[in-house]
Amino acid sequence: MIGRLNHVAIAVPDLAAAAAQYRDVLGADVSEPLAQPDHGVTVVFVELPNTKIELLHPLGEDSPIANYLERNPSGGMHHICYEVDDILGARDKLKAEGARVLGDGEPRIGAHGKPVLFLHPKDFCGTLVEIEQV
Ligand code: CO
Repeated sequence: MIGRLNHVAIAVPDLAAAAAQYRDVLGADVSEPLAQPDHGVTVVFVELPNTKIELLHPLGEDSPIANYLERNPSGGMHHICYEVDDILGARDKLKAEGARVLGDGEPRIGAHGKPVLFLHPKDFCGTLVEIEQV
């Protein structure tokens, strides 16, 4: 059901430092910071040949990654995103298998303008999983 790895998202306490590290130390192609107020984050996209890394920093009052950074002050992997062809079909299959879909279970438009859902980390090896319809 899941397809390609779309991205790995890493929450970072210092976006400029993280971007510089990926650019200068790891030698990756790194975007300018992009504010996404609807999602409560500022993102730097790291383009790799086979996938993307998204460096996330909180933006605004109730950022979804604020609590994560409180618990992990030096940052850490926040979620992993897999592509699916049919997000409603995927959701229904996951629910039938007992996986918990976060929120009201209806896809939202994610950071790439495509429908996404998040799955409870306790159901997936301690990893917050995003599925995105591509
Ligand atoms: Co994501």
